Amino acid sequence: MRVLFTSSEVFPLAKTGGLADVSSALPLALAEAGRDVRVLMPGYPAAMAGLVDRHELSRLGDPLGVGGETILIEGRLNGSHLKVWLLDCPVLYDRDGGPYQDSQGRDWPDNGLRFGLLSWAAALLSTDASPVAWRPHILHCNDWQTGLAPAWLAAWGPANRAGTVFTIHNIAYQGRFAPDLVARLSLPPEMYDINGFEYYDNLSFLKAGLFYSDRLTTVSPRYAREIQTPAFGYGMEGLLASRAADLTGILNGADYQVWDTGTDPHIAHPFPRGDATGKAANKAALLEELGLAIRPGAPLLVVVTRLTEQKGMDLLLAVLPAILGLGAQVAVLGTGDHDLEEAFKAAAAAHPDQMAVRIGYSEQMAHRLMAGGDMLLIPSRFEPCGLTQFYAFRYGTVPIGHVTGGLADTLIDTGYDTLMTGTANAFVFEHSNAGAFQWAIERAVALFADTERWQRIVEAGLAQDFSWGRSAERYQALYTELITARKVNPA
Ligand code: ADP
Ligand code: GLC
Repeated sequence: MRVLFTSSEVFPLAKTGGLADVSSALPLALAEAGRDVRVLMPGYPAAMAGLVDRHELSRLGDPLGVGGETILIEGRLNGSHLKVWLLDCPVLYDRDGGPYQDSQGRDWPDNGLRFGLLSWAAALLSTDASPVAWRPHILHCNDWQTGLAPAWLAAWGPANRAGTVFTIHNIAYQGRFAPDLVARLSLPPEMYDINGFEYYDNLSFLKAGLFYSDRLTTVSPRYAREIQTPAFGYGMEGLLASRAADLTGILNGADYQVWDTGTDPHIAHPFPRGDATGKAANKAALLEELGLAIRPGAPLLVVVTRLTEQKGMDLLLAVLPAILGLGAQVAVLGTGDHDLEEAFKAAAAAHPDQMAVRIGYSEQMAHRLMAGGDMLLIPSRFEPCGLTQFYAFRYGTVPIGHVTGGLADTLIDTGYDTLMTGTANAFVFEHSNAGAFQWAIERAVALFADTERWQRIVEAGLAQDFSWGRSAERYQALYTELITARKVNPA
């Protein structure tokens, strides 16, 4: 079975969040299971530089009239056999800044073209008109940036095409553009319709993906149900409910090669898997690095996240005085909303012994916080899956999180019963408000003093196994079902 997996970010070539982690770990797991996989993404400068064994695969011309040619480059991810295809189109991708925004945090004005091209190429390469001999049985699209691919396939109606799977990693990001983009991309005007990709007088890349794909998935079973309701559907709940028969939730996994306490190159003192006694030395090194006071017995609460409304960081700001009042220490690593960044910086400046903030993106610091922290705070308003709780479990750090999406599917609250049976692996709160969050933190901090019981919670986390293998099996079952149902016959 051949699978073309397409995504706007792929770790370690480009990453802003969990989508990147999934976009390398899942294709790797599929390849390990014997599937023949290619990963297609834009040729951002860092991706072009990071790819090994690069060579030209094909010339795609200038299909969207962007003013420059696109060359399809093939190479490998360093240290693996996974084949990656980059769209080398300098007019669209060769610039400093992030995948979606410039260095000032402004969306690139031509994102419609940048991800229009990604979608167009994914579609073309999945048909019998592809200039490349390798043709996939399955085109697996991810998030809005790839949403137009299934629409193009529907528009072209080729005799042979791949079956399409569209995975929703975050329904809040929808890729909405002014309607003139429809003509600019030469999409059929009749598809700009409520039964199509029109959405409140805009062209919606996400809606295109949801409407035209053969199968839909999202990254946890709970989120699959949540997005069919107005509270979580961001306007897509009706369409998703109408497609419920084609929608499944498959929980993400964790890449335990990247997140391995035994071999982690980023942490001060690697320690054997499953033996959390190794955390003490890492905590000491981390406190020193962050300039925090050494306070025996004080728990260190860590945060690794995008600083956005989704992640509930305003709730954290609201409960900070109470947390600090308990004598706990706090370390935040994140980047995102300017106001949140400033508020966290100010809090750290006011409590230099107790609180540290690092604004920015740092893979190293993320690993050190997981290894040295005692608890990981995840008060997300919604969380399609969430990956940091998997990393926390593996690193002996206890998550404190909101019961939503993938957090609801993976965190087991500490209560009398779960503690006694050894299943408790976290502290959770049901209602998304500061009071509920604070109560969960207070419960955790109180139990932290009881070393023996705390250890049981840590051990329950260490014993969890969220390897990608299991999730990859579920994707393969879905691919197989779709190939049979559609009688897919790649050219
Ligand atoms: P989301 O994709 O919504 O951001 P996830 O929990 O799925 O949430 O994935 C976030 C990923 O990004 C994790 O791998 C996490 O460690 C990483 N991450 C988030 N913020 C930072 C940061 N500032 N520095 C380093 N890694 C970060
Ligand atoms: C999104 C979600 C996150 C999920 C990630 C990978 O960014 O916000 O919950 O884990 O995608 O699927």
